[in-house]
Amino acid sequence: VTRLTTFSGGDFGNWEVESIEAVAGASLPDASWLAVSEDAETAHVGAAWLLRGVTSNQRYTTREEQTILLAEQPQLGRPEATRAALIPIRKTEEWWELAQDERREILADRSKHVSIGLEYLPGVARRLYHCRDFGEPFDFLTWFEYAPSQAAAFSELVARLRDTPEWGYVEREVEIRLVR
Ligand code: HEM
Repeated sequence: VTRLTTFSGGDFGNWEVESIEAVAGASLPDASWLAVSEDAETAHVGAAWLLRGVTSNQRYTTREEQTILLAEQPQLGRPEATRAALIPIRKTEEWWELAQDERREILADRSKHVSIGLEYLPGVARRLYHCRDFGEPFDFLTWFEYAPSQAAAFSELVARLRDTPEWGYVEREVEIRLVR
């Protein structure tokens, strides 16, 4: 299985860009289309920007949370999910200097990231890509797909998460909304 995925913004792609908004820190250059590719050999000639990430193991979820997530998370690529969001995120050095148990406490116990997220399943399909370890400008590329009827719920979810202690450690975040 290919775990390396490339997101390229530019003049071509399978998703049309609705908006690119800097939430924290610098934005990304304008692009009309986003191409999502699991083929590392694909030449992204002329792309305005490229972001790469890999799927990985879970860091913070308990057995109980993993079981619930597996049961409730929808697949990517549902025909009705014609809206998507790519939200690249970088966290502060302070976050990365914490110990694993301290990060888990902030993300799960104090911020309720997992339980808030679960409220929006199965409307929103998600995938988390990691990219901190290979010198990318972001630490994570977060990807979401949902039907137009779930767009307001998705905005509410994002607003709720941004209001948590975990987001105090986010230093760069760009929200890219997409349509296909
Ligand atoms: C759709 C509902 C959501 C669910 C069920 C959910 C669930 C999760 C879970 C279980 C993890 C931990 C993965 C691990 O153990 O390593 C996680 C991580 C993460 N999520 Fe969410 N999430 C949701 C929505 C969001 C949204 C809307 C954003 C962005 C605005 C987001 C950003 C992140 C980031 C950046 C991480 C990595 C955090 C880190 O490792 O420091 N999530 N999410």
